[in-house]
Amino acid sequence: MNESPGPVASISDAPQHVTIFDTSLRDGEQSPGCSMSASQKLRFAHALSELGVDVIEAGFPSSSEADLEGVRAIVREVRGSSLATLARCHPGDIEACARALEGAAKPRIHVFISTSPLHRQHKLNLDRQQVLERAVAAVEQARRYVDDVEFSCEDALRTEPEYLVEICSAAIAAGARTLNIPDTVGYTTPSEIRSLFEYLRSNVRDADKAVFSAHCHNDLGLAVANSLAAIEGGARQVECTINGIGERAGNCALEELVMALRVRNAYYNASTRIDTRRLVPTSRLLSRITGMVVQRNKAVVGQNAFAHESGIHQHGMLKHRGTYEIMAPEDVGWAQSQMVMGRHSGRAALNDRLQALGFSVDEARLNSVFAAFKTLAEKKREVFDADLEALVLGADAKA
Ligand code: KIV
Ligand code: ZN
Repeated sequence: MNESPGPVASISDAPQHVTIFDTSLRDGEQSPGCSMSASQKLRFAHALSELGVDVIEAGFPSSSEADLEGVRAIVREVRGSSLATLARCHPGDIEACARALEGAAKPRIHVFISTSPLHRQHKLNLDRQQVLERAVAAVEQARRYVDDVEFSCEDALRTEPEYLVEICSAAIAAGARTLNIPDTVGYTTPSEIRSLFEYLRSNVRDADKAVFSAHCHNDLGLAVANSLAAIEGGARQVECTINGIGERAGNCALEELVMALRVRNAYYNASTRIDTRRLVPTSRLLSRITGMVVQRNKAVVGQNAFAHESGIHQHGMLKHRGTYEIMAPEDVGWAQSQMVMGRHSGRAALNDRLQALGFSVDEARLNSVFAAFKTLAEKKREVFDADLEALVLGADAKA
Protein backbone atom coordinates (compact mmCIF):
# COMPACT_ATOMS: atom_id res chain seq x y z
CA MET A 1 0.00 0.00 0.00
CA ASN A 2 1.36 3.48 -0.79
CA GLU A 3 2.15 5.65 2.16
CA SER A 4 1.29 9.29 1.78
CA PRO A 5 4.11 11.69 2.65
CA GLY A 6 4.11 12.07 6.45
CA PRO A 7 3.77 15.58 7.78
CA VAL A 8 6.55 15.17 10.36
CA ALA A 9 9.87 13.38 10.63
CA SER A 10 10.23 10.12 12.53
CA ILE A 11 10.19 10.35 16.34
CA SER A 12 13.15 7.97 16.63
CA ASP A 13 16.30 7.41 14.58
CA ALA A 14 16.77 3.82 15.72
CA PRO A 15 14.02 1.24 15.10
CA GLN A 16 12.19 0.47 18.35
CA HIS A 17 10.36 -2.64 19.55
CA VAL A 18 7.09 -2.08 21.39
CA THR A 19 6.14 -4.94 23.70
CA ILE A 20 2.50 -5.91 23.33
CA PHE A 21 0.99 -6.87 26.69
CA ASP A 22 -2.50 -8.23 26.17
CA THR A 23 -4.87 -8.03 29.12
CA SER A 24 -8.05 -9.34 27.43
CA LEU A 25 -8.06 -12.24 29.89
CA ARG A 26 -7.74 -10.00 32.96
CA ASP A 27 -8.86 -6.36 32.51
CA GLY A 28 -11.01 -7.40 29.53
CA GLU A 29 -12.53 -10.39 31.20
CA GLN A 30 -13.49 -8.43 34.30
CA SER A 31 -15.79 -6.12 32.29
CA PRO A 32 -19.56 -6.65 32.12
CA GLY A 33 -20.58 -9.30 29.60
CA CYS A 34 -17.07 -10.66 29.02
CA SER A 35 -16.51 -13.32 31.66
CA MET A 36 -15.04 -16.59 30.36
CA SER A 37 -14.72 -20.12 31.66
CA ALA A 38 -11.29 -21.66 32.25
CA SER A 39 -11.49 -23.62 28.98
CA GLN A 40 -12.54 -20.52 27.02
CA LYS A 41 -9.63 -18.60 28.54
CA LEU A 42 -7.24 -21.36 27.55
CA ARG A 43 -8.53 -21.36 23.99
CA PHE A 44 -8.15 -17.62 23.73
CA ALA A 45 -4.67 -17.65 25.30
CA HIS A 46 -3.53 -20.03 22.52
CA ALA A 47 -4.95 -17.57 19.96
CA LEU A 48 -3.09 -14.66 21.60
CA SER A 49 0.14 -16.61 21.55
CA GLU A 50 -0.33 -17.44 17.86
CA LEU A 51 -1.05 -13.77 17.21
CA GLY A 52 2.43 -12.95 18.54
CA VAL A 53 1.52 -11.21 21.80
CA ASP A 54 4.68 -10.78 23.92
CA VAL A 55 2.99 -10.90 27.33
CA ILE A 56 -0.42 -12.42 28.10
CA GLU A 57 -1.97 -11.28 31.37
CA ALA A 58 -3.70 -14.54 32.21
CA GLY A 59 -5.69 -13.43 35.24
CA PHE A 60 -5.91 -12.28 38.83
CA PRO A 61 -5.51 -15.58 40.72
CA SER A 62 -6.65 -14.34 44.13
CA SER A 63 -9.88 -12.86 42.73
CA SER A 64 -11.72 -16.18 42.24
CA GLU A 65 -11.31 -19.95 41.98
CA ALA A 66 -12.36 -19.78 38.31
CA ASP A 67 -9.63 -17.27 37.58
CA LEU A 68 -7.02 -19.39 39.30
CA GLU A 69 -8.16 -22.45 37.36
CA GLY A 70 -7.94 -20.51 34.07
CA VAL A 71 -4.40 -19.32 34.86
CA ARG A 72 -3.26 -22.83 35.80
CA ALA A 73 -4.63 -24.24 32.52
CA ILE A 74 -2.84 -21.55 30.51
CA VAL A 75 0.43 -22.08 32.37
CA ARG A 76 0.30 -25.81 31.55
CA GLU A 77 -0.09 -25.29 27.79
CA VAL A 78 0.98 -21.85 26.54
CA ARG A 79 4.75 -21.54 26.13
CA GLY A 80 5.45 -18.91 23.45
CA SER A 81 4.49 -15.73 25.33
CA SER A 82 5.39 -14.47 28.81
CA LEU A 83 2.52 -15.12 31.22
CA ALA A 84 1.64 -12.44 33.75
CA THR A 85 -0.69 -12.60 36.73
CA LEU A 86 -1.99 -9.66 38.73
CA ALA A 87 -1.67 -9.06 42.48
CA ARG A 88 -2.54 -6.25 44.84
CA CYS A 89 0.37 -5.30 47.10
CA HIS A 90 -0.78 -7.98 49.55
CA PRO A 91 1.46 -10.90 50.51
CA GLY A 92 -1.39 -13.41 49.95
CA ASP A 93 -2.10 -12.15 46.43
CA ILE A 94 1.57 -12.35 45.47
CA GLU A 95 1.88 -15.84 46.85
CA ALA A 96 -1.23 -16.87 44.87
CA CYS A 97 0.39 -15.48 41.70
CA ALA A 98 3.60 -17.38 42.37
CA ARG A 99 1.71 -20.64 42.92
CA ALA A 100 -0.45 -20.14 39.84
CA LEU A 101 2.64 -19.47 37.69
CA GLU A 102 4.61 -22.52 38.84
CA GLY A 103 5.98 -24.30 35.76
CA ALA A 104 5.47 -21.31 33.42
CA ALA A 105 8.21 -20.91 30.81
CA LYS A 106 8.30 -17.11 31.17
CA PRO A 107 6.46 -16.02 34.36
CA ARG A 108 5.81 -12.39 35.30
CA ILE A 109 4.21 -11.12 38.51
CA HIS A 110 2.38 -7.81 38.11
CA VAL A 111 1.79 -5.92 41.36
CA PHE A 112 -0.23 -2.73 41.61
CA ILE A 113 -1.28 -0.15 44.15
CA SER A 114 -3.24 3.09 43.87
CA THR A 115 -1.10 6.20 43.98
CA SER A 116 -3.46 9.14 43.36
CA PRO A 117 -4.56 11.37 46.26
CA LEU A 118 -8.19 10.41 45.66
CA HIS A 119 -7.47 6.69 45.83
CA ARG A 120 -4.97 7.02 48.68
CA GLN A 121 -7.54 8.82 50.80
CA HIS A 122 -10.83 7.15 49.86
CA LYS A 123 -9.81 3.67 48.79
CA LEU A 124 -6.71 2.84 50.82
CA ASN A 125 -6.74 5.32 53.70
CA LEU A 126 -2.95 5.44 53.49
CA ASP A 127 -0.51 8.32 53.12
CA ARG A 128 2.20 8.59 50.46
CA GLN A 129 4.91 6.99 52.58
CA GLN A 130 2.72 4.04 53.54
CA VAL A 131 1.77 3.42 49.89
CA LEU A 132 5.43 3.58 48.91
CA GLU A 133 6.44 1.11 51.63
CA ARG A 134 3.74 -1.36 50.55
CA ALA A 135 4.85 -1.07 46.95
CA VAL A 136 8.49 -1.74 47.79
CA ALA A 137 7.63 -4.70 50.02
CA ALA A 138 5.41 -6.17 47.28
CA VAL A 139 8.02 -5.82 44.55
CA GLU A 140 10.66 -7.37 46.82
CA GLN A 141 8.38 -10.28 47.67
CA ALA A 142 7.50 -10.88 44.01
CA ARG A 143 11.21 -10.81 43.09
CA ARG A 144 11.80 -13.69 45.48
CA TYR A 145 9.62 -15.82 43.19
CA VAL A 146 10.39 -14.50 39.68
CA ASP A 147 12.90 -12.24 37.90
CA ASP A 148 10.27 -10.52 35.79
CA VAL A 149 8.28 -8.15 38.02
CA GLU A 150 6.01 -5.37 36.81
CA PHE A 151 4.84 -2.57 39.07
CA SER A 152 1.74 -0.44 38.32
CA CYS A 153 0.72 2.87 39.90
CA GLU A 154 -3.06 2.68 39.68
CA ASP A 155 -4.64 6.02 38.69
CA ALA A 156 -1.19 7.33 37.77
CA LEU A 157 -2.54 10.05 35.51
CA ARG A 158 -4.22 11.71 38.50
CA THR A 159 -1.17 11.27 40.76
CA GLU A 160 1.30 14.03 41.65
CA PRO A 161 4.12 13.58 39.06
CA GLU A 162 6.88 14.07 41.65
CA TYR A 163 5.35 11.30 43.77
CA LEU A 164 5.31 9.03 40.71
CA VAL A 165 9.04 9.72 40.34
CA GLU A 166 9.60 8.77 43.97
CA ILE A 167 7.57 5.54 43.92
CA CYS A 168 8.83 4.42 40.49
CA SER A 169 12.46 5.01 41.59
CA ALA A 170 11.81 2.93 44.71
CA ALA A 171 10.15 0.16 42.67
CA ILE A 172 13.17 -0.06 40.35
CA ALA A 173 15.51 -0.22 43.34
CA ALA A 174 13.34 -3.03 44.75
CA GLY A 175 13.69 -5.01 41.52
CA ALA A 176 10.79 -4.05 39.20
CA ARG A 177 11.75 -4.29 35.53
CA THR A 178 8.56 -2.85 34.03
CA LEU A 179 6.90 0.30 35.32
CA ASN A 180 3.31 0.62 34.22
CA ILE A 181 1.67 4.05 34.29
CA PRO A 182 -2.07 3.43 33.94
CA ASP A 183 -4.65 5.99 32.96
CA THR A 184 -7.10 3.99 35.03
CA VAL A 185 -10.13 6.18 34.41
CA GLY A 186 -9.37 7.30 30.83
CA TYR A 187 -8.90 10.90 31.91
CA THR A 188 -5.72 12.01 30.18
CA THR A 189 -5.07 13.58 26.77
CA PRO A 190 -2.33 12.76 24.24
CA SER A 191 -0.14 15.78 24.96
CA GLU A 192 -0.45 15.31 28.72
CA ILE A 193 0.51 11.63 28.74
CA ARG A 194 3.38 12.17 26.34
CA SER A 195 4.82 14.86 28.64
CA LEU A 196 4.36 12.63 31.69
CA PHE A 197 6.31 9.77 30.11
CA GLU A 198 9.09 12.16 29.05
CA TYR A 199 9.20 13.60 32.57
CA LEU A 200 9.32 10.17 34.24
CA ARG A 201 11.98 8.85 31.91
CA SER A 202 14.22 11.80 32.67
CA ASN A 203 13.59 11.98 36.43
CA VAL A 204 13.10 8.42 37.72
CA ARG A 205 16.34 7.04 39.20
CA ASP A 206 17.90 4.31 37.03
CA ALA A 207 15.08 4.75 34.51
CA ASP A 208 17.11 2.81 31.93
CA LYS A 209 16.82 -0.35 34.03
CA ALA A 210 13.06 -0.50 33.42
CA VAL A 211 10.65 -0.58 30.51
CA PHE A 212 7.97 2.11 30.81
CA SER A 213 4.49 0.90 29.96
CA ALA A 214 1.18 2.57 29.08
CA HIS A 215 -2.21 1.20 30.13
CA CYS A 216 -4.95 3.50 28.85
CA HIS A 217 -8.68 3.22 29.41
CA ASN A 218 -11.16 4.53 26.88
CA ASP A 219 -13.65 6.61 28.88
CA LEU A 220 -13.19 9.59 26.53
CA GLY A 221 -12.51 7.46 23.44
CA LEU A 222 -8.81 8.36 23.62
CA ALA A 223 -7.19 5.10 24.71
CA VAL A 224 -5.43 4.36 21.42
CA ALA A 225 -4.40 7.98 20.82
CA ASN A 226 -3.08 8.23 24.38
CA SER A 227 -1.13 4.96 24.06
CA LEU A 228 0.48 6.19 20.84
CA ALA A 229 1.35 9.47 22.55
CA ALA A 230 2.88 7.52 25.44
CA ILE A 231 5.09 5.74 22.89
CA GLU A 232 6.17 9.15 21.64
CA GLY A 233 7.07 9.97 25.23
CA GLY A 234 9.19 6.82 25.57
CA ALA A 235 6.80 3.99 26.53
CA ARG A 236 8.06 0.68 25.14
CA GLN A 237 5.24 -1.55 26.36
CA VAL A 238 1.55 -1.01 25.70
CA GLU A 239 -1.18 -2.83 27.58
CA CYS A 240 -4.19 -3.47 25.41
CA THR A 241 -7.03 -5.87 24.65
CA ILE A 242 -8.56 -7.43 21.57
CA ASN A 243 -11.60 -5.41 20.41
CA GLY A 244 -10.73 -2.91 23.18
CA ILE A 245 -12.73 -4.84 25.78
CA GLY A 246 -12.19 -3.83 29.40
CA GLU A 247 -13.60 -2.02 32.40
CA ARG A 248 -16.37 0.49 31.48
CA ALA A 249 -15.59 1.87 27.98
CA GLY A 250 -12.69 -0.55 27.65
CA ASN A 251 -8.94 -0.48 27.12
CA CYS A 252 -6.69 0.46 24.22
CA ALA A 253 -7.69 -1.80 21.28
CA LEU A 254 -4.70 -3.97 20.31
CA GLU A 255 -5.66 -4.17 16.64
CA GLU A 256 -5.91 -0.38 16.28
CA LEU A 257 -2.65 0.34 18.08
CA VAL A 258 -0.70 -2.29 16.13
CA MET A 259 -2.04 -1.11 12.77
CA ALA A 260 -1.36 2.55 13.62
CA LEU A 261 2.27 1.65 14.34
CA ARG A 262 2.47 -0.30 11.12
CA VAL A 263 0.66 2.08 8.76
CA ARG A 264 2.52 5.10 10.18
CA ASN A 265 5.83 3.29 10.61
CA ALA A 266 7.74 6.12 8.94
CA TYR A 267 6.70 8.28 11.86
CA TYR A 268 6.84 5.89 14.86
CA ASN A 269 9.77 3.76 13.63
CA ALA A 270 8.42 1.13 16.03
CA SER A 271 7.38 -2.42 15.36
CA THR A 272 5.69 -5.29 17.18
CA ARG A 273 5.80 -9.08 16.83
CA ILE A 274 2.10 -9.25 15.98
CA ASP A 275 1.11 -11.34 12.94
CA THR A 276 -1.41 -8.80 11.70
CA ARG A 277 -3.14 -11.33 9.40
CA ARG A 278 -4.46 -12.96 12.54
CA LEU A 279 -6.17 -9.80 13.86
CA VAL A 280 -9.61 -10.42 12.34
CA PRO A 281 -9.74 -14.14 13.21
CA THR A 282 -8.69 -13.35 16.80
CA SER A 283 -11.28 -10.60 17.08
CA ARG A 284 -13.97 -12.96 15.74
CA LEU A 285 -12.94 -15.70 18.16
CA LEU A 286 -13.27 -13.34 21.11
CA SER A 287 -16.72 -12.23 19.95
CA ARG A 288 -17.84 -15.84 19.64
CA ILE A 289 -16.50 -16.73 23.08
CA THR A 290 -17.96 -13.73 24.92
CA GLY A 291 -21.02 -13.09 22.74
CA MET A 292 -19.95 -9.44 22.61
CA VAL A 293 -20.15 -8.36 18.99
CA VAL A 294 -17.99 -5.66 17.49
CA GLN A 295 -19.69 -2.56 16.12
CA ARG A 296 -19.84 -2.52 12.28
CA ASN A 297 -17.77 0.63 11.96
CA LYS A 298 -15.04 -0.47 14.38
CA ALA A 299 -11.59 0.31 12.95
CA VAL A 300 -9.67 -2.64 11.45
CA VAL A 301 -11.95 -5.49 12.60
CA GLY A 302 -15.48 -4.07 12.09
CA GLN A 303 -17.54 -5.35 9.16
CA ASN A 304 -17.49 -1.92 7.51
CA ALA A 305 -13.76 -1.30 7.96
CA PHE A 306 -13.07 -2.17 4.29
CA ALA A 307 -16.58 -1.77 2.84
CA HIS A 308 -17.32 0.90 0.24
CA GLU A 309 -20.79 1.89 -0.86
CA SER A 310 -20.78 5.37 -2.36
CA GLY A 311 -20.39 5.64 -6.12
CA ILE A 312 -17.49 8.08 -5.89
CA HIS A 313 -15.55 5.87 -3.48
CA GLN A 314 -16.26 2.69 -5.43
CA HIS A 315 -15.13 4.35 -8.65
CA GLY A 316 -11.91 5.51 -6.97
CA MET A 317 -11.30 2.07 -5.47
CA LEU A 318 -11.70 0.40 -8.86
CA LYS A 319 -8.97 2.67 -10.24
CA HIS A 320 -6.56 2.46 -7.26
CA ARG A 321 -7.16 0.92 -3.84
CA GLY A 322 -5.04 3.56 -2.19
CA THR A 323 -7.66 6.20 -2.96
CA TYR A 324 -9.83 5.10 -0.05
CA GLU A 325 -7.83 2.46 1.85
CA ILE A 326 -4.76 3.13 3.98
CA MET A 327 -4.07 -0.56 4.61
CA ALA A 328 -4.83 -3.76 2.73
CA PRO A 329 -7.71 -5.84 4.13
CA GLU A 330 -5.66 -9.02 3.54
CA ASP A 331 -2.97 -7.67 5.88
CA VAL A 332 -5.35 -7.75 8.85
CA GLY A 333 -7.10 -10.99 7.98
CA TRP A 334 -10.04 -10.00 5.79
CA ALA A 335 -10.39 -11.87 2.49
CA GLN A 336 -10.83 -8.67 0.50
CA SER A 337 -12.42 -5.21 0.41
CA GLN A 338 -16.13 -5.21 -0.02
CA MET A 339 -18.07 -3.18 -2.57
CA VAL A 340 -21.48 -2.91 -0.97
CA MET A 341 -24.14 -2.46 -3.62
CA GLY A 342 -26.72 0.00 -2.38
CA ARG A 343 -28.49 3.19 -3.35
CA HIS A 344 -25.24 5.20 -3.26
CA SER A 345 -23.44 2.89 -5.68
CA GLY A 346 -22.65 3.89 -9.25
CA ARG A 347 -22.53 2.36 -12.70
CA ALA A 348 -18.78 1.52 -12.58
CA ALA A 349 -19.15 -0.58 -9.43
CA LEU A 350 -22.26 -2.30 -10.82
CA ASN A 351 -20.40 -3.19 -14.00
CA ASP A 352 -17.45 -4.51 -12.02
CA ARG A 353 -19.72 -6.63 -9.81
CA LEU A 354 -21.61 -8.05 -12.79
CA GLN A 355 -18.33 -9.07 -14.42
CA ALA A 356 -17.25 -10.75 -11.18
CA LEU A 357 -20.55 -12.66 -11.28
CA GLY A 358 -19.76 -13.84 -14.80
CA PHE A 359 -21.96 -11.44 -16.84
CA SER A 360 -20.46 -9.46 -19.63
CA VAL A 361 -22.86 -6.64 -20.39
CA ASP A 362 -22.72 -4.11 -23.21
CA GLU A 363 -23.56 -0.43 -22.74
CA ALA A 364 -27.28 -0.77 -23.47
CA ARG A 365 -27.72 -3.81 -21.22
CA LEU A 366 -25.75 -2.10 -18.42
CA ASN A 367 -28.04 0.95 -18.71
CA SER A 368 -31.19 -1.07 -18.31
CA VAL A 369 -29.79 -3.19 -15.44
CA PHE A 370 -28.52 0.00 -13.74
CA ALA A 371 -32.00 1.60 -13.93
CA ALA A 372 -33.58 -1.54 -12.42
CA PHE A 373 -30.83 -1.69 -9.79
CA LYS A 374 -31.47 1.93 -8.71
CA THR A 375 -35.19 1.25 -8.34
CA LEU A 376 -34.49 -1.82 -6.21
CA ALA A 377 -31.79 -0.06 -4.15
CA GLU A 378 -34.32 2.64 -3.13
CA LYS A 379 -36.37 -0.11 -1.50
CA LYS A 380 -33.59 -2.22 0.06
CA ARG A 381 -30.63 -1.31 2.28
CA GLU A 382 -28.27 -3.61 0.42
CA VAL A 383 -28.57 -5.26 -2.97
CA PHE A 384 -27.06 -8.74 -2.86
CA ASP A 385 -25.47 -10.80 -5.65
CA ALA A 386 -28.60 -12.92 -5.98
CA ASP A 387 -30.64 -9.71 -6.52
CA LEU A 388 -28.23 -8.61 -9.26
CA GLU A 389 -28.46 -11.96 -10.99
CA ALA A 390 -32.25 -11.71 -10.96
CA LEU A 391 -32.07 -8.16 -12.38
CA VAL A 392 -29.81 -9.21 -15.26
CA LEU A 393 -31.93 -12.24 -16.09
CA GLY A 394 -35.09 -10.08 -15.89
CA ALA A 395 -33.60 -7.44 -18.19
CA ASP A 396 -32.59 -10.18 -20.66
CA ALA A 397 -36.09 -11.63 -20.62
CA LYS A 398 -37.57 -8.23 -21.44
CA ALA A 399 -35.09 -7.55 -24.27
O1 KIV B 1 -6.53 0.33 35.00
C1 KIV B 1 -5.70 0.00 35.86
O2 KIV B 1 -5.14 0.82 36.59
C2 KIV B 1 -5.38 -1.42 35.98
C3 KIV B 1 -4.24 -1.79 36.85
C4 KIV B 1 -4.59 -2.94 37.73
C5 KIV B 1 -3.01 -2.09 36.01
O3 KIV B 1 -5.99 -2.24 35.32
ZN1 ZN C 1 -7.07 -1.27 33.64
